[in-house]
Amino acid sequence: MCGIVAYIGPSDALPVLLDGLRRLEYRGYDSAGLALLNPGGIEVRKAVGRIANLATEIEKFPIRGQAGISHTRWATHGAVTRDNAHPHADQSGKLHLVHNGVIENYQSLREQLQERGHIFHSQTDTEVLAHLVGEAFDRSTSRDGAALIEALRQALRQVIGTYGISVIHAEVPGLIVGARRGSPLVLGIGKHEHFLASDVSAIVAHTREVVYLNDYEIVAIQAEGFEISTVSGTGADFQVSKVEFTAESVDKGQFPHYMLKEIHEQPNSVRDAMRGRLSIEEATAKLGGLNMTNAELRAVDRVILTGCGTALHSALVGEYLIESLSHIPVECEFASEFRYRNIPLDRDTLVFVISQSGETADTLAALRESQRKGHRTLGICNNVASTIARESDGGVYMHAGPEIGVAATKSFTSQLTIFALLGLLLGRIRHLSHSDGRDIIAEMEKLPDLVARTLELETQVAAIAKKYARANNFLFMGRQAHYPVALEGALKLKEISYISASGYPSAELKHGVIALVTEETPSVFIAPQDAVFEKNLSNIEEVKARKGPVIAIGTEGDTSLRKVCDEVILIPDAPVYLSPILSVIPLQMLAYHIANELGCDVDKPRNLAKSVTVE
Ligand code: F6R
Repeated sequence: MCGIVAYIGPSDALPVLLDGLRRLEYRGYDSAGLALLNPGGIEVRKAVGRIANLATEIEKFPIRGQAGISHTRWATHGAVTRDNAHPHADQSGKLHLVHNGVIENYQSLREQLQERGHIFHSQTDTEVLAHLVGEAFDRSTSRDGAALIEALRQALRQVIGTYGISVIHAEVPGLIVGARRGSPLVLGIGKHEHFLASDVSAIVAHTREVVYLNDYEIVAIQAEGFEISTVSGTGADFQVSKVEFTAESVDKGQFPHYMLKEIHEQPNSVRDAMRGRLSIEEATAKLGGLNMTNAELRAVDRVILTGCGTALHSALVGEYLIESLSHIPVECEFASEFRYRNIPLDRDTLVFVISQSGETADTLAALRESQRKGHRTLGICNNVASTIARESDGGVYMHAGPEIGVAATKSFTSQLTIFALLGLLLGRIRHLSHSDGRDIIAEMEKLPDLVARTLELETQVAAIAKKYARANNFLFMGRQAHYPVALEGALKLKEISYISASGYPSAELKHGVIALVTEETPSVFIAPQDAVFEKNLSNIEEVKARKGPVIAIGTEGDTSLRKVCDEVILIPDAPVYLSPILSVIPLQMLAYHIANELGCDVDKPRNLAKSVTVE
């Protein structure tokens, strides 16, 4: 949600910033802007809309500089206008600042500043922060880097809220300062050059040596060095990390969209989620990152899974998978509800927070609330350097590689794979025998090939998408673990094609949903060969009796669905604890191809942004 890139070094900053912003555009694309420091002072360019608009603006009014800050915005305070786009200047016009996050007490700070004569040009909370820092700097008798850092400290001590920021000042050339609280900021270390970014993917083309800043840390970068301290004024320990992925892995490659690329990466991402985690000898899963002994795991008598959006849908599938394999009761809760609901938790309850980005504000708050209550709280994250990954008491990484498409795809199937591993591990220290464990492992090892085979259905799914793309409403239905897959299928379609879609357990049809069935409303049924197949079939008949078109996802070899359904997509057979990993794939492809057919911007859907770092 919003993106920051800053550069200082011997090169022209403009291409570095524009390239970084393009790579971060998936985090927010309402408007964009940058400020470059050059011998004549600071020059700013802004544009409403995509980075391409900013680039056009700069072509018309060129600028240069060897230090600069830049931002791509997802609006929180104030409409999408040029004035509200970042960077924002202070009262003197010499300080410029970009900001991710939300300053909660900005109204009262703004009023106080106005009483002191400050004039604002935007409706944003960010401009208030710029004025605060500028005012503190202008009170200082020195005009150097130390004074700017101290001014930033003084300003940040007054704000309540979250921030990831970068600041430049015309009187302190050769320096960029940044700070974070609750909104990520990473320092990139290059040769005679340094970078700041809200996401490492913006700078990985230039350096893989990075420092992930912690909350309340301030960083000052120059071409030749950097310094990290804290908001309270003390020095800070830091660790230089090596970025795991390369610049190529954040490119689209041969695919027209990141979403399609990520859908097709699933055989590998599913394999990577299992890699090194299956022990044939002990017939169990090895999840060392949980930081729990078998005795501690044995004592767990309830599991809570929490997250938002797709991560919550994966949790709902996880409830079925973990319960069926381990017989431990599992409950799921939206992180946004969990954080405020005083849910009774027993001593032996294990809480998992699930987040691809590891930065989702509600999920992070749920983690902190659970930990505050003294519960061991584990994370299931993709982004290894994320706040959730770092603050949780242990967990399991997805190792899915960067997910750039705003609509989550491969992270969902990675999460399901991890739930199957977790179910196996918990089950094996309870009722599952050695040979049960061996059977489950044998099935899991087949999974990447089954995912690859499911992807071969794309031509068929694309043809179905073309046929139904003009429908105004879709229903998605499934039973048991395929019910949350139906929710996920509906979410994917809504997000990227803007078609109204809802997911239900199939049996809910006759309790109200059937009123929506018409000849124009396609119903997508997930109906693999399982214990409830016949039940699903009856529900399909109910829709057909009302002339509703039915698209069914069944199991290879099925012959009954064809007799009743308009379209049948057959996925490979797999045990119930794995089959949702396959059944969601045609739904991801259906949403993708419908959106594409309608000419929608698949990777950057309307009003959305990847990684929701505000509440
Ligand atoms: C849906 C989607 C969102 C995210 C949700 C949680 O396609 O991308 O619903 O799943 O915002 O994000 P993470 O997993 O990063 O916490």
